[in-house]
Amino acid sequence: MLLEVRDLHVEFRARDGIARAVNGVSYAVDEGETLAVLGESGSGKSVTAQAVMGILDMPPGRITGGEILFQGRDLLRMKEEERRELRGARMAMIFQDALSALNPVLSVGEQLGELFTVHRGMSRKAARARAVELMDRVRIPGAAQRVRDYPHQFSGGMRQRIMIAMALALEPALVIADEPTTALDVTVQAQVMDLLAELQREYRMGLVLITHDLGVVADVADRIAVMYAGRIVESAPVHDIYKAPAHPYTRGLLDSIPRLDLKGQELYAIKGLPPNLTRVPAGCSFHPRCPMARDVCRAEVPPLYEVSEDRGSACHFWRECLDGDER
Ligand SMILES: Nc1ncnc2c1ncn2[C@@H]1O[C@H](COP(=O)(O)OP(=O)(O)OP(=O)(O)O)[C@@H](O)[C@H]1O
Ligand code: SF4
Ligand SMILES: [Mg+2]
Repeated sequence: MLLEVRDLHVEFRARDGIARAVNGVSYAVDEGETLAVLGESGSGKSVTAQAVMGILDMPPGRITGGEILFQGRDLLRMKEEERRELRGARMAMIFQDALSALNPVLSVGEQLGELFTVHRGMSRKAARARAVELMDRVRIPGAAQRVRDYPHQFSGGMRQRIMIAMALALEPALVIADEPTTALDVTVQAQVMDLLAELQREYRMGLVLITHDLGVVADVADRIAVMYAGRIVESAPVHDIYKAPAHPYTRGLLDSIPRLDLKGQELYAIKGLPPNLTRVPAGCSFHPRCPMARDVCRAEVPPLYEVSEDRGSACHFWRECLDGDER
């Protein structure tokens, strides 16, 4: 397995107590596989990713338990120097906001080229040629001229392509993309997502794709992990989830996707809001919002039940959810 997160716990000290932002998360991604991580704002998707990349703000964050195995080695036991070497070369991250992730005072050619001079010992001239090649590869028109331009001279979509090029430059085994298209116009979103999916297949990298948008996931992901209040509540192959969710929260997310055939109808929304992480409800943390909740849900935390060999649901009534919702 390329990446295995096991029972990860991350806390933040907040003014009103300790926020359990990541509360026992486990997921795995294999070489050549795309795992989509889904969930509302504040569910712990980014914090989990930052812990994997080793870029979590500590403090205020603190990893209080778990393991993160990358190619079989526990990242949490590595020296910072070793992790820094992995970062960029073997694992890379794509952020939502390219403008703040790129250096404003270096041309994109210099930034891309630097990766090859520093990590590959190339001459500046050879590195620049590689930079142009990469810009071509992510389909930036006129790459040979634009290599001298600065990040702010590119449109949002083009900047996001440059960030993808930076992430893939050294052909990492693992890429984590945290909402890579959220800041873009809808039409550009699809193009950038298609490009990312295409490169993922070509380079056979493992991709963790964090997104709010269940709509894009069907075409690009192999598996889905759904997060709620710091936990994975459902984990399954993508087609199983679309056919029938085994968790009421996943069903709520699916029902909230705009559908062309239901145009004009009011869009479903899961009622209520995610909990304050310093005061997560007892039992199943989703129970105050769950249309299927009953007494046992308020008392007992559901474990991740095995629905099938490669599928899990943290709902006491997963079977009912699954049967009631064959699509
Ligand atoms: N720097 C921080 N300081 C304090 N608390 C933090 C910090 N970063 C994250 N948290 C806590 O961790 C929780 C989870 O944050 P995270 O960024 O992982 O959410 P997310 O699922 O990525 O949401 P979004 O979809 O909005 O990006 C937050 O709600 C917050 O309580
Ligand atoms: S355990 Fe109960 S409250 Fe939680 S999702 Fe399942 S039915 Fe809903
Ligand atoms: Mg986030």
